[in-house]
Amino acid sequence: MNFIKRSEHFDEIVRQLENLASIGIALSAEKDSNKLLEMIMYEARRVTNADAGTLYLVEGEQLRMKIIHNKTMNTFRGGKGEEIDLPPVPISREYVSGYVALTAEAVNIPDVYEAEGFDFSGPRKYDAMTGYRTRSMLVIPLKNHLEEVIGVLQLLNAIDEETGKIIPFDIGYQTIVQSLSSLAAIALTNMQLIQEIENLFESFVQVIVTAIDAQTPYNATHTQQVSRLSQLIALEINQEDSGPLAKEFFDEDRLKVLVMAGWLHDIGKVATPLKVMNKATRLDEQLPLVLARIDYALQKERNALLWSILKKNRQISAQNELLGNADLLPFAAPASLEDEHTCKSKIELLKSARELIIRADDPATFIDDELKEKLEALSEITFTGEDGKVYPLLSPAELASITVAKGTLTDEERKIMEDHVVITAKMLSKLPFTKKLARAPELACMHHEHLDGKGYPKGLKGDEIPLEARILAIADIYDALTASDRPYKKGMSVENALKIMGFMVKEGKLDSDIMNLFIRRKVWEKLPGSAS
Ligand SMILES: [Fe+2]
Ligand SMILES: [Fe+2]
Repeated sequence: MNFIKRSEHFDEIVRQLENLASIGIALSAEKDSNKLLEMIMYEARRVTNADAGTLYLVEGEQLRMKIIHNKTMNTFRGGKGEEIDLPPVPISREYVSGYVALTAEAVNIPDVYEAEGFDFSGPRKYDAMTGYRTRSMLVIPLKNHLEEVIGVLQLLNAIDEETGKIIPFDIGYQTIVQSLSSLAAIALTNMQLIQEIENLFESFVQVIVTAIDAQTPYNATHTQQVSRLSQLIALEINQEDSGPLAKEFFDEDRLKVLVMAGWLHDIGKVATPLKVMNKATRLDEQLPLVLARIDYALQKERNALLWSILKKNRQISAQNELLGNADLLPFAAPASLEDEHTCKSKIELLKSARELIIRADDPATFIDDELKEKLEALSEITFTGEDGKVYPLLSPAELASITVAKGTLTDEERKIMEDHVVITAKMLSKLPFTKKLARAPELACMHHEHLDGKGYPKGLKGDEIPLEARILAIADIYDALTASDRPYKKGMSVENALKIMGFMVKEGKLDSDIMNLFIRRKVWEKLPGSAS
């Protein structure tokens, strides 16, 4: 008889151990913190046959309710992460859960109405309001691997399976729940650690990228806006229940990858020279130099004209005048005197050159063939410097800059600019991304790819460009066009930006389905701080 009893007891232990092991595996496999908390509560109630329970997590000096279950009252709250609008419990000896959090000791009370030493006004109040009767209570600390209490599990009203009556919590079950709590606490801590690592990585990326953006006043919020806009587009795609995008869905993980790709997309700009990135006009910082050169040449011609006039008026040899009155004149006489007419026409030529350069420097001016020819003719003009050497009014590099048809960048500078994607790829290849974020670098490097294969750096085509990269491309272009802080132009109106993007869709560069959704759902209006 004794043998049979031991065997049953042994079988029960094995069953509980197996049960615990499978609970432990299930807990450690759960990646959603709310579901994990809910699972802890279900399992603890199942093991002890408890009618109700509350799971608290430590937040500073308080215990915050995360899960509330009451089978009799049909109350199940917190499992979807919703806030429970009940006040937190102070971690103090006065309250039983506070006491457990403070001392890390379990408390097992057969009947709270008869127990002393704790403030049970809360459960009593609840009972008075609902007609429920709180009787037996088991309160267990959730301790992590560092023996720190990270939460408290409070189970109420153990039910006798045979009679259905409320009974005290069995001391044997208390041990099992304590083991379960340890497993739960470790699973929770693991999740928190992973979350902390993810947060740290995300914050680190954001800090670095913000620092890069801050290098140029023209790009200060670009990365953040692209990331936000991409996220908003994805969330709108999730709302589609018909049409070509209805089959796509961004769950939490897919959304995280997209947002991270948005943050990373221009990280290679850290290596782009600021003089290229911030180039505001065709000549930009070269313009004052070119103008100074023209002004110098102009002054020399005016000086020559002055001498020429003096010579004519006085009917004396220029040489004598030069020797006798040189001190009275503001400029030295030119080596050889030109006639008045030549000087005047040179002065006019230089003055019109000055005006032309200023006009052509403005990126709003389109450089057509006629203007280009005029500028090329300017580069033929030379002047003699103080050192006696002959210089062109415009160097070949300056001519190349000022004859760029559209925008401000020469082919060479555009190549440097486009290289930011290649550098982004190189930089990101050095970072050990988590499995979850593994696709982010690849997607980040596709934001300048166009569906027609004419984008860069790889010239990917159609299906080779995933949905995420197509979203990034639209977010990137929209922000580049509308940002009021771009170097070469004022922010464009939304209407005009959408028009240009519409052309890009027609040309087969941008995804028409995403663009339709973007316009139909006015995604830009959902950006924080949007004027609309
Ligand atoms: Fe870019
Ligand atoms: Fe960008």
